[in-house]
Amino acid sequence: MRRTALALAAVVFSSLPLTAQSPGGSVVLVTGASSGIGRKIAEAMAAKGHFVYAGARKPDDLAALDKIPNVRGIKLDVTSASDIAAAVETVRRGGRGLTGLVNNAGVAILGALIEVEEKDLQFLFDVNVYGPYRVTKAFAPLLIESKGRVTTVGSISGILSGPLFGPYSMSKHAVEAYSDALAVEMARFGVKVSVIEPGNYKSEIGRNTMAQVEAAVARNPNSPFLPQMKNMVAAMGNYDNYPEPDAVADAAVHALFDPNPKMRYLVVPAARQAEVTIRKAIEELVQLNQSHPFSYDRDALVRMLDSALVRVK
Ligand SMILES: NC(=O)c1ccc[n+]([C@@H]2O[C@H](COP(=O)([O-])OP(=O)(O)OC[C@H]3O[C@@H](n4cnc5c(N)ncnc54)[C@H](OP(=O)(O)O)[C@@H]3O)[C@@H](O)[C@H]2O)c1
Repeated sequence: MRRTALALAAVVFSSLPLTAQSPGGSVVLVTGASSGIGRKIAEAMAAKGHFVYAGARKPDDLAALDKIPNVRGIKLDVTSASDIAAAVETVRRGGRGLTGLVNNAGVAILGALIEVEEKDLQFLFDVNVYGPYRVTKAFAPLLIESKGRVTTVGSISGILSGPLFGPYSMSKHAVEAYSDALAVEMARFGVKVSVIEPGNYKSEIGRNTMAQVEAAVARNPNSPFLPQMKNMVAAMGNYDNYPEPDAVADAAVHALFDPNPKMRYLVVPAARQAEVTIRKAIEELVQLNQSHPFSYDRDALVRMLDSALVRVK
């Protein structure tokens, strides 16, 4: 019954003229739009009059997304080649083209690197790293056709790393490298690429990660990391106390629609999160420069910083 209703909605939507559905004129795809940041991004883009293909996996989430004006739920598991191919086909048949892609779908796996299960690491990379790679690759012809935009939701964990966050940070560091290379490669086609690095915002990510951390605790009762892992279970319950991710949605809107999008969007709800992130980037620079034959002195480093500041203005 539900499937019939969804299929009917799909036919109705795809037969509507472009202007009726996208007064903002643009068509975007947001992956992982069932909850949290992705849902906010889909809502924000749709509220601005853009037509949003909102990726989700569960029928109930797709039905809920279909109820939002200017939004059409699209079944999209970013680890599924057949889902991705079908989504490309749906967007092509929709006939509206595609002007923007937000790679938002993501999961977290936490734990000590000498304990984390390889299959958990593979699952994490399959979603957080191979997901954006697969989806962007599949939609690249449409994005090149429209000289569109791609933004990927990374994290401050793409710059930071620390105990028990190793697996998640590894995946989000990969998103940084992915975005840097993609930006240069796509520039020749007029496609602009950016990466958004959120701090802590309210979403389902804590609840979604808790089961994995609890399973790791149960699996390793004698782990030297047990107290920290137990604290992590408690921390995962804190996500409801963080601010709503409206600022992350604003960054995604800027990344897709501003005439001068930034390469990186650091979006955090508290000064402390910005401070630790920037300090970490500076520390890494200093460590890279430390005592080797080609080290720069302080004045040369400051000149480099000054010229980088001029370039991003
Ligand atoms: N919240 C934060 O504080 C924070 C901070 C930095 C970065 N981030 C990043 O923000 C992004 C969104 O996370 P969130 O915090 O909004 O968490 P969330 O509420 O748990 O949302 C994650 C979304 O990703 C989807 N997803 C998971 N696996 C998927 C797959 N295989 N294929 C397609 N979709 C999949 C989920 O769909 P289902 O509902 O079907 O599972 C859900 O829609 C992630 O990339 C995350 O790493 C979040």
